[in-house]
Amino acid sequence: MYLEGLVLAAGEGSRLRPFTYSRPKHLIPLLGKPLIQYPIEDLVSAGVRDVGVVIGYFGDLIKDYLGDGSRFGARLRYIAQEKRLGIAHAIYRGIEEGFLDREFIVYLGDNIVGSGVGGFIKEFLEKGSDVHILLAEVKDPRSFGVAILKDGRIVRLVEKPKKVVSNLAVVGVYIFRNPDLVSRAFKDLKPSWRGEYEVTELIQWFIDRGYRVTYTIVDGWWKDVGTYDGLLDAIYMLLDRVNRSINGSISEEVRGRVIVEKNAVVEGDVYGPAYIGENSYISKSTVIEPFTSVENNVKIFSGRIARSLIMDHCELDLNKARLVDSVVGSKTRIRSARELHGDIKLVVSDNSLIEI
Ligand code: G1P
Repeated sequence: MYLEGLVLAAGEGSRLRPFTYSRPKHLIPLLGKPLIQYPIEDLVSAGVRDVGVVIGYFGDLIKDYLGDGSRFGARLRYIAQEKRLGIAHAIYRGIEEGFLDREFIVYLGDNIVGSGVGGFIKEFLEKGSDVHILLAEVKDPRSFGVAILKDGRIVRLVEKPKKVVSNLAVVGVYIFRNPDLVSRAFKDLKPSWRGEYEVTELIQWFIDRGYRVTYTIVDGWWKDVGTYDGLLDAIYMLLDRVNRSINGSISEEVRGRVIVEKNAVVEGDVYGPAYIGENSYISKSTVIEPFTSVENNVKIFSGRIARSLIMDHCELDLNKARLVDSVVGSKTRIRSARELHGDIKLVVSDNSLIEI
């Protein structure tokens, strides 16, 4: 039997407001699919099919979307985390509900690991570890848990360090051998200053007691999509690896690595890497510049868009304006009645009407 999986998706996503006022962050669309689908598909391709999904904030929307998981080749079960008491608590909920009874991999539902996790599972199994974690070098570690290494071994994990004690962030993927031990560790924890049972402290319990805690340093890309910058970065990284694939109807001006999904109609210019979702329409007076994702059912009547995410069911008529580094929520309409030239940057929630 292979590892079980646990995807954590209960959080409120407060750092991604206003987009999380109307949905959990896990359902924000990225290149035609919601964020949470990336970790689920990653687990399935690594051979992990029995996956528990821990839900809370807008949990029913996640359940409605993922269903029993068969569409993705997974067998999903849902576990409620009513109180948001942190990652260690969410893991404990999985054990408490009797879902986890052998080795398991925890994947934060807002993390995307470019290389996939298959190789890390293999390493965990080969090393015979009690806990295996992934680390990634980051410029600013203050918003992550970090690992302090000594002689190649992890000696200390620090959650959200105020000072830079290490540049190695703890990625939101954790593999554990024994659910009973995790349960024991959890029962010894106290909530941190932010009122959460921290996963870093849970793993520290194993380190302090001499268990085998191993790690891999991720050399490809990894994104925690929990913030606005993280969201745009994830779009850029996902677009960076797309291949040209045209399923809709296009003009001659679609250049480079562009995905045009079925029933999309592109009459204007698109410069890859870019994504045009299903049923979307790009008019003749529109230019889509690199690193832009136009999700499903979007209509763009005029203007230029660069390095931006336009969520589903939007209507944009930008005239001569150029939208850059922007995120536009679902079902939002933006109109430019005047001849506004130059760049604008917008972060707009769902269901808005903007006149510029
Ligand atoms: C959480 C963990 C942190 C980890 C990060 C990775 O942070 O607590 O240790 O580095 O995920 O995404 P949070 O998203 O709760 O701020």
